[in-house]
Amino acid sequence: MQDSPSRLVLRRPDDWHVHLRDGAMLRAVAPATARVFARAIVMPNLKPPVTTVDQASAYRDRILKAVSEDTRFQPLMTAYLTDHLDPFELERGFTEGVFTAAKLYPANATTNSAAGVSDLSKITKLLERMEAIDMPLLIHGEVTDADVDVFDREAAFIETHLIPLRERYPALRIVLEHITTEQAVDFIRSASLAGDSRIAATITPHHLHLNRNAMFMGGLRSDFYCLPVVKRECHRRALVKAATSGLPCFFLGTDSAPHPRSGKESACGCAGIFNAVHALESYAAVFEQEGALEHLQGFASEHGPRFYGLPLNQENLTLVKRAQTVPRRLESTPSIQLRDAGLEASEWPVLFHAGETLSWSVQVDRQAQTN
Ligand code: DOR
Ligand code: ZN
Repeated sequence: MQDSPSRLVLRRPDDWHVHLRDGAMLRAVAPATARVFARAIVMPNLKPPVTTVDQASAYRDRILKAVSEDTRFQPLMTAYLTDHLDPFELERGFTEGVFTAAKLYPANATTNSAAGVSDLSKITKLLERMEAIDMPLLIHGEVTDADVDVFDREAAFIETHLIPLRERYPALRIVLEHITTEQAVDFIRSASLAGDSRIAATITPHHLHLNRNAMFMGGLRSDFYCLPVVKRECHRRALVKAATSGLPCFFLGTDSAPHPRSGKESACGCAGIFNAVHALESYAAVFEQEGALEHLQGFASEHGPRFYGLPLNQENLTLVKRAQTVPRRLESTPSIQLRDAGLEASEWPVLFHAGETLSWSVQVDRQAQTN
């Protein structure tokens, strides 16, 4: 293994998949994302979901209001696909620069997805338009069939839906979001190596760190419950290899998904892990362990913009080798003014890596990239 440096200057990264929520939760969590990431693809699964151009631009305004003025953060908005969404509305949002992409939630696959797509055959017109205008399709890739084992739902989705979708719309730009299995890694890697540059996958920090034992360590741990659910160790290893491989088809998407405590600690706990505050340090730990820190910049800051056809960020950010212990709750982090957000103390979300020590710390500086 190579010696690790004590400072790592990176092109400022982007988060290609995040849940910023709304209201008090938005005001509480958005500053953490904006502090580190220059841009973020913002998920549309609000209540009600973001399905119109007006809703998306109003939501974008609320996000910008929630982050401090000196962060220069750009939220990239997404449309929530439904069986009845009007293709003209979708196209208008994309051509006006309000929607960057559209998100496909199979109906009832996850949090606030009840209004999602009941069957891919219902959105043929939308998919045709998206392929024609080169609008990216972001997929929550799980089947919802109650008969399919919850741990097999991603692999089943690839076989049953994604392979036929790719054949039917060969030019459609597709991101399989938050992948969790070796089947997903193999599918994306093979497509990319075969020359398909229009398919990619995001990988979260929690799926790189956790296997399914984490959910049952000494009891039922709702803080480690997310969707798609974390899988066996062999799948986690496949994800680590993919993320650190340097392949351009894999890039950073935190899927940071805060829930109020009452939502997590309940008889039917919500899926979602809040990792925004230490996401980059969390990824850095994995890349360092693999002896692959030289690939962190590609994964965090370059593969995503190239896939989306957006410019690379010109600012830098520095990771320094300075250990930090992650506090349990959002409150004690310097980057967040939670008290102003209006979120009840009892509802503050627990941080990913709470109580653990991470060996890297982000230092935000804003000088331009020199190369
Ligand atoms: O764990 C998850 N939480 N997975 C999702 O797909 C949705 C997200 C949320 O919105 O809470
Ligand atoms: Zn998500």
